[in-house]
Amino acid sequence: MTTSKKWTYSSGGFPQCLHQTTYTAPAPAALKPTEIQVRTHAFAINPVDVQAMNLRHDTTALIPWPLSAFVPAGLNSSSQSESEACCDFSGTILHVGSAVSSSNAFEPGDEVFGFTMAPSNGHGTAGEVLTLDTAPGSNVAVAKKPKSWDHTHAAAVPLVYLTARVCIDSVQAYMGQDKDKRGSAGEGTGNAAKWLVVLGGSSSTGASTIQIAKARGWKVLATCSGRNVDFVKQQLGADDVIDYTAAQDSVPAEVLRRLRSLGGLAAPESGGDAVVIVDCVGGTECLDHAELGPKILRYVTIVGDKTDRTSMGGPAIYWKHPNMLRRWFWGKLGWGVHYDCVILDARKDWLEEAGRTLSKDEIVIDSIFKFDELPKALEKMVGGQVRGKLVGTIA
Ligand SMILES: NC(=O)c1ccc[n+]([C@@H]2O[C@H](COP(=O)([O-])OP(=O)(O)OC[C@H]3O[C@@H](n4cnc5c(N)ncnc54)[C@H](OP(=O)(O)O)[C@@H]3O)[C@@H](O)[C@H]2O)c1
Repeated sequence: MTTSKKWTYSSGGFPQCLHQTTYTAPAPAALKPTEIQVRTHAFAINPVDVQAMNLRHDTTALIPWPLSAFVPAGLNSSSQSESEACCDFSGTILHVGSAVSSSNAFEPGDEVFGFTMAPSNGHGTAGEVLTLDTAPGSNVAVAKKPKSWDHTHAAAVPLVYLTARVCIDSVQAYMGQDKDKRGSAGEGTGNAAKWLVVLGGSSSTGASTIQIAKARGWKVLATCSGRNVDFVKQQLGADDVIDYTAAQDSVPAEVLRRLRSLGGLAAPESGGDAVVIVDCVGGTECLDHAELGPKILRYVTIVGDKTDRTSMGGPAIYWKHPNMLRRWFWGKLGWGVHYDCVILDARKDWLEEAGRTLSKDEIVIDSIFKFDELPKALEKMVGGQVRGKLVGTIA
């Protein structure tokens, strides 16, 4: 039996929690009917990888006060078990379980790319051989890799595309161009947005959201720092960009000023203003702004009210931030903004859609690192100066 290498983490928080471990992958005969075994060629890293390591160190981070006070100190650090790191991969199928060929049409030798929700299902992708359960509900999505993509580009796609796709689905009923598809939450508001505002347009998820929105013909106003303005405008195709490092005013005031000058706000007689925002940064600056806040019809965030990059965000923090819960609840009752903090959806059909619609040139990679360099790559990502994905290769 040959041994393989993988990156795992225990308690202690990033970076000291991270280790390289050896393991023996299950024998083909031991695979469950719905499992596949994959030789990994590339894996990508995401902010959630570091966030999961820090959460493992302190699970009280998601428990609201005063309940958190009842969790004994050191509860998490006592656990000896290792968790596996990273969620995105691209590779070649080595073996399939007995039910896989008929249910998924995968065979040994197929080149595939995909995603696994490592923080919750325990199966990370930073390892030489992956064993993944493709059964529905396993939070795994795998699709055949398009021939025109190499493994490095394929590994860069899943998590950000599956997240951006949820964001687009969550706002489309509120966009003027998609008025016919308006869902129940948007019904009766009498207005629809002319522009989509993307906060954090240069982030990987923001970039993917802009690409999908532009493919649908939507007008997009995005925020980013000065170094990324050309990238967001010229490469991603945003119609207008706010450089938040140079704006004379606050981001929300600048969003309002731009939308007004671009004709992006509806006249009051047509039902009033309707601003729709996808937030890939986090925080409440736009929601709390006295003038912009009341004009926001729909606000979809993938982060929530927190703004740091190293603690867990997304719907997991609703209970930690009562204002998020209150905003969401009032929105459901039809008061104020229609607010949702969303999480990606592990859908195979969306990976296949990405394969059909994205060219290799549209997949943005910041840099490529070797398997052994994962800690350095994670440090770089935490620094926040990346543009596109950091992808690890396995020789
Ligand atoms: N809910 C979900 O399912 C889900 C899924 C994916 C990601 N997320 C979360 O979404 C966020 C973005 O993820 P990502 O992978 O797209 O990020 P990313 O690609 O790592 O974003 C990097 C960009 O973010 C900007 N940035 C860096 N530090 C920042 C800071 N302190 N405040 C604001 N902007 C900063 C920088 O662009 P500029 O210099 O141009 O500002 C940087 O180029 C993360 O918090 C992540 O955990 C949630």
